[in-house]
Amino acid sequence: MFYEPKDGHGLPHNPFNALITPRPIGWISSRSPDGDDNLAPYSFFNGVAYVPPQVMFASTSAKPDQDGVKDSVANIRDTGVFCVNVVGYDMAEEMNQTSGPWAKEVDEFTDAGIEKAACTLIDCPRVAAAPANLECRLTQVVQIEGEANTVVFGEVIGVHLREDCLRDGIFDARVFQPVGRMGYRDFTRVTELFTLRRPGE
Ligand SMILES: Cc1cc2nc3c(=O)[nH]c(=O)nc-3n(C[C@H](O)[C@H](O)[C@H](O)COP(=O)(O)O)c2cc1C
Repeated sequence: MFYEPKDGHGLPHNPFNALITPRPIGWISSRSPDGDDNLAPYSFFNGVAYVPPQVMFASTSAKPDQDGVKDSVANIRDTGVFCVNVVGYDMAEEMNQTSGPWAKEVDEFTDAGIEKAACTLIDCPRVAAAPANLECRLTQVVQIEGEANTVVFGEVIGVHLREDCLRDGIFDARVFQPVGRMGYRDFTRVTELFTLRRPGE
């Protein structure tokens, strides 16, 4: 089949998010200027540069108690910092719980029973048990086509790696089994790897 999104797809569910899979999940922690801690998953997330290391995530709608954005975007816009927490399979349920449409004052760490730790370089909480945490400085907030579609870019200025995830100097995904977002309500987790060498290597 072929369809033009502007005309609809004619399927029972929009297939779009099943076409770009698996997507990494940026579990974004932030703190409001009033000191309310926030945690939410974003699968429109990726790394976008090595030097300096940079990441992005995209927010696709607004919350009624915010001015045209979600809590994460509002906090980051107002404070200039955020943290990306890597999601291991053992925290998949907690990650999902933090995606609820809670009021902006709700601390999702507390709601989902997630232990928090302080970031080292920025005034922001992080998921203490996450395999890795990336402390980020906001670089750009970009409005893209459509209503309330916002992309947040940040520079990674500090990296925490859980010691048990390091095997012979390699950050080994098989230890923590990163969770990926598939289409519909589906997820996947990494349990095995294969290796390819690039042409000429
Ligand atoms: C696995 C997963 C991935 C998600 N990815 C996104 C995303 O990329 N963009 C988005 O706007 N919402 C996404 N959501 C929904 C947000 O997590 C949800 O709207 C949340 O309430 C936002 O929290 P906040 O207002 O505290 O930032 C995702 C939800 C789940 C469970």
